Amino acid sequence: MSVPYTAIPVPRATPHVRRHIASLMPGGGKMKFSELCLTRPRVGHELLMGWADRLFPHAYKAFGEPVATVYAIGTVRYNTAEQTDFHQWHTDDWFFEPHCTGVTFWLTFDDVGVSAPSLEFDADGESHVPVVPAGTALMFNSKIKHRTQQISGERVSVEFRCAPLSVRTGNWLTAAQATVESGPSGPELVVSYQGNVIGRAAVD
Ligand SMILES: [Fe+2]
Repeated sequence: MSVPYTAIPVPRATPHVRRHIASLMPGGGKMKFSELCLTRPRVGHELLMGWADRLFPHAYKAFGEPVATVYAIGTVRYNTAEQTDFHQWHTDDWFFEPHCTGVTFWLTFDDVGVSAPSLEFDADGESHVPVVPAGTALMFNSKIKHRTQQISGERVSVEFRCAPLSVRTGNWLTAAQATVESGPSGPELVVSYQGNVIGRAAVD
């Protein structure tokens, strides 16, 4: 099997955004992306713009159709050397029930793989640990087995979980979410909640 992830640079994942996120929670803490957007709307917006600008096109290409990122299954984490939240082997399929079709973008604000925990992927029994710089997202399919790399170190990360528009049913149609549409002067980030569009912004 080829490498089970794609590494994508995200220039908007700056030290400034990292500081904001780290100030929102204690070491070892995490919050839902939806909670971040309520607490710090501007930070949430900046992250969504980075998603729309750099990540959305990769998910679109993977599924052959637009995707939405659902706020409630996005996660923001602040791991510290002492309080790293080690996850054991799992897949992300359960986030995407009942269709179990989706991708996760895991965006790190710190260099990972050597002095702070990256992810470890298992592809047909072969281990892959990406060593990537701060401001990189790893995209992987919900069916790929992964866990936290088993080393300590300080790291801030954000996960965007995205499903193709065609598989959304039930709660997925009304949850707070964002997608990208083509507007009159280029791509637009479109935010919706309870099935209504509540915001649009040009993607530059
Ligand atoms: Fe996971």
